[in-house]
Amino acid sequence: MKRAVVLNVNGESYDLDIEPNRLLLQALREDVGLTGTKEGCSIGVCGACSVIVDGRLVSSCLTLAVACQGKEITTIEGLASDGRLHPLQQAFIEYGGFQCGICTPGQIMAAKALLNENPQPSEEQVKEWMSGNLCRCTGYYKILESVMAVVNNKVGTVQPVRRDERSAKIESLKVYKSS
Ligand code: FES
Ligand code: FES
Repeated sequence: MKRAVVLNVNGESYDLDIEPNRLLLQALREDVGLTGTKEGCSIGVCGACSVIVDGRLVSSCLTLAVACQGKEITTIEGLASDGRLHPLQQAFIEYGGFQCGICTPGQIMAAKALLNENPQPSEEQVKEWMSGNLCRCTGYYKILESVMAVVNNKVGTVQPVRRDERSAKIESLKVYKSS
C-alpha cells in the first residue's frame, strides 16, 4: 500500500505517494524528476548515488525514501546558486575531474560533505574520504586535483589556459568541420 510522503529536496517540498520500499534514488530520479543523482552498482559500493541527508552523506540506493520524511535532502542539482556553479562543480570542469560523468555527481556530493565538515582537508584526508566513490574513467588524480583546487582556493585561476588547450585539441582532431 502506498504512503504519502513529503520530501524536502534542495529547499523545495515534494508531496509523493509511494510504496514503503521505494528507494530514495528511485524517488529522486523518477518521482521528483531530479536525474542528476546516478545509479551505478545499486548495492552501496560505488558512491554514484550519493546525496546529503541532514548533513550526512548517504547512498540513496540503500536508503528508503519514506525514511527521509522531514529531512533536508541535497542533491547535485542543489549546489549551484544564482546561476553560478558551486566551486566544486567549477573545479571538476576546470581540472578535468570527469570523463563519462556517471560517477561525477556522487564524487561532488561526497566532496561537498567532506568540505562541510572540514574545509581544509589534506590530500590524504580527501583520498581517504573519497575512497567510497569509484570511477572507471579518470584514474582518480584529476578528481583529487579538482577537490584540492577548491581547498586551496585555486578555482578560476587556470580556466582560460585549460579552455584554450581543450579547444586546440578538439580542432586538432578535426571532429568539427566548418560549413
Ligand atoms: S548506486 Fe548506490 S552506491 Fe552504487
Ligand atoms: S567519469 Fe566515468 S566513471 Fe567516473
